[in-house]
Amino acid sequence: MYKILKKETIAPATFKMDVLAERIAKKAQPGQFVILRPTQDGERIPLTISDSNKDEGSVTIIFQVVGMTTRILSQMEIGDTLSDFVGPLGRASELKHLKKVLCIGGGVGTAVVYPDVKYLHENGAIVDVIIGARSKEYIILEDEIKQRCRNLYITTDDGTAGIKGFVTDKLKELLDNGEEYDEVYAIGPMIMMKFVSLTTKKYGVKTMVSLNPIMVDGTGMCGCCRVKISGEVKYACVDGPDFDGHEVDYDDVMRRLETYKEIEKENDEQHACKGIYHN
Ligand code: NAD
Ligand code: FES
Repeated sequence: MYKILKKETIAPATFKMDVLAERIAKKAQPGQFVILRPTQDGERIPLTISDSNKDEGSVTIIFQVVGMTTRILSQMEIGDTLSDFVGPLGRASELKHLKKVLCIGGGVGTAVVYPDVKYLHENGAIVDVIIGARSKEYIILEDEIKQRCRNLYITTDDGTAGIKGFVTDKLKELLDNGEEYDEVYAIGPMIMMKFVSLTTKKYGVKTMVSLNPIMVDGTGMCGCCRVKISGEVKYACVDGPDFDGHEVDYDDVMRRLETYKEIEKENDEQHACKGIYHN
């Protein structure tokens, strides 16, 4: 039952875990996610399937500790079992028709864009990638991505690796230099996806983003994950998580994400006081 097979710290407060989930590993496609609950009395969180191995029956998840549930998850060890691990959920990314793509990963969002990079590379597309991180130690999956793309550009906010600046600085430079792409795939903080989309709109380049609003059931029933796309209500768990970046109402998604921040912070502080997870 959903045993943790491998666990690795890949950046500050950022973990990579392989979980035994044979049925999900068999079916998972790029862009899809799982909803997991570390313990029976815990809350559910969605996490993108960063990779899967059909032979081992394992699914890879990458997460940053941002609240109580990710903290509990980070304290679990190899051999521990997760209470629930449901998936694959959501629509797979539509990548088959693409010949030349620019993928952009912001921070831990790089783990979400990685399966798209892998799929595109394996299916003969030309892939350029921009990874953006706060500083050098926050860059993840650099080697895995380097092996699967034509050009890898790194940007860091503080200039400790690659180009000093945001992913949008490199994006603008590439487009200004006449580089043409069928599509841009941008995944990271909401604010990054907003500014990437504003940039590519000016150049008329189709842009897909992956939205991660709060989710509960992951089946379109609870309404928690609703987002506005071209003024229409959609549910990220069943209509997405990928959407046309030029149609997303980012300010609305960001407002909704803020709603539970205070409660989450309180819960996390209480949990941190109580001590670590025990199976
Ligand atoms: P971060 O804040 O360190 O930002 C990563 C990069 O995004 C920066 O280095 C920069 O290049 C770019 N960026 C940030 N602000 C920007 C702006 N105003 N304009 C242009 N580019 C900008 O990222 P992090 O702390 O690793 O990421 C955490 C965030 O990512 C959380 O908000 C989390 O919810 C989100 N996330 C999203 C997904 C998804 O599926 N969309 C998945 C995982 C995490
Ligand atoms: Fe409930 Fe999407 S998570 S409708």
